[in-house]
Amino acid sequence: MKETRIVKILKETATIGIGTVINVKGWVRTRRGNNTVAFVAVNDGSTVFNIQVVVDIDKFGEDKIKQITTGASISVTGKLVESTGKGQSVEILADEIEILGLADTETFPLQKKGHSMEFLRSIAHLRPRTNYFGCVLRLRHAMAFAIHKYFNDRGFFYLHTPIITSADAEGAGEMFRVTALNMENLPLDENGKVDYTEDFFGKPTNLTVSGQLNGEMGAMALGKIYTFGPTFRAENSNTPRHLAEFWMIEPEMAFYDLQDNMDTAEEFIKYCISYALENNFDDLQYLNDFFDKELIDRLRSILAVDFIRLSYTEAIEILINSGRKFEFKVSWGADLQAEHERYLVEQHFKQPVILIDYPKDIKAFYMKQNDDGKTVRAMDVLFPKIGEIIGGSQREEDLEKLLAAIDERNMSKEELRYYLDTRRYGTAVHSGFGLGFGRLLLFVTGMGNIRDVVPFPRTPQNADF
Ligand code: 4AD
Ligand code: MG
Repeated sequence: MKETRIVKILKETATIGIGTVINVKGWVRTRRGNNTVAFVAVNDGSTVFNIQVVVDIDKFGEDKIKQITTGASISVTGKLVESTGKGQSVEILADEIEILGLADTETFPLQKKGHSMEFLRSIAHLRPRTNYFGCVLRLRHAMAFAIHKYFNDRGFFYLHTPIITSADAEGAGEMFRVTALNMENLPLDENGKVDYTEDFFGKPTNLTVSGQLNGEMGAMALGKIYTFGPTFRAENSNTPRHLAEFWMIEPEMAFYDLQDNMDTAEEFIKYCISYALENNFDDLQYLNDFFDKELIDRLRSILAVDFIRLSYTEAIEILINSGRKFEFKVSWGADLQAEHERYLVEQHFKQPVILIDYPKDIKAFYMKQNDDGKTVRAMDVLFPKIGEIIGGSQREEDLEKLLAAIDERNMSKEELRYYLDTRRYGTAVHSGFGLGFGRLLLFVTGMGNIRDVVPFPRTPQNADF
């Protein structure tokens, strides 16, 4: 018999009909009961809710019941009935039970509830079986789906940008090398340096830190594109907000200036949050009840306000005048740290902030230069609990100014020659931004550590599973 998923049983009970014989397949969460009847809570991953299976022990025999342990997979066929017990509206009276896969009670690590997040990280292969990770992974899916829907509904095209690249888009140099050379026996040139002409691509290549440069090429033809793919950063920052491998969404829009870019970013992120509230409320309610009592209020509060828009220079004044002692000193020209961003958002304004017009020296080469000669048309969207959730800018469309910015940073014009062609042929005002998917999930789930919103996190010294 084909299984009915639990989410459907609970949401469409009337259509299925009380008294109907159905089949459920899933994993046992708990088994309790007495000598005559066992109550088995089964979860199939389709929802945070379990379905209760009522098992007549005489009918199946003690030996079989003993195999129905936490973690085992089972297939149950039986009649759907209204439940007389507390905590569920319907349950299944088991007619047939098939044990699909045993789970040894001595070794299965998820016997009890209440494991620490640190412990669960050490069993990333099994943690999706917890309620918490079930909620996170369903929300992750929903957010990915919402993102595609948002852009598709607005005429953006999904552009696949390469993962292997020879360009350093952000100019920060924190990249993972990709090579097919034999590391034990590297070919050397006459100066004793590694000879990359012998490598697969004939030059050094890396995993991309951002799809933006290719994204711009797409936008200058299709008008509006977005990328949504994995990006990689070899920065050794062991923080609750950094991953070495993370997914990023990067829309790029021809004929958009910074103002249009800010409007898009704000509308987009609000869309994602309302999508979660509308479509995944059960998951959010669970996380709200058991992990973060302010989660749902916080999500709703974002939808209720216009984001503050403010220049970097004004932000620096606010921070200096705050009288706060920050770990990192505040001065014009220095990059903002998470503590500064969070002060602005959580203490000063108490709502999301879009900071613009940053000093050019702390931002990437491609950003549109302001007339003051000191700042660029950058924009960072800062969120409570997160700090920077989006980074973007209007792009420098003027070839001469862009070449000067590349020279100032001692970057290679040769490496960027194809990118520069977008400014040579039919250049236009354009803008875009990048949303860190992990950071979005961190906000939407209310969790404190980005490692706990990714199925298999990649961080310094950790590439297990
Ligand atoms: O601010 P970033 O570095 O901007 C870019 O890469 C631009 N090319 C985006 C663009 O304009 N198209 O990164 C964008 C976002 C950050 O705001 C943050 O949310 C996320 O990516 N991010 C990270 N998330 C997890 N781990 C890391 N190590 C991250 N680094 C950046
Ligand atoms: Mg940034």
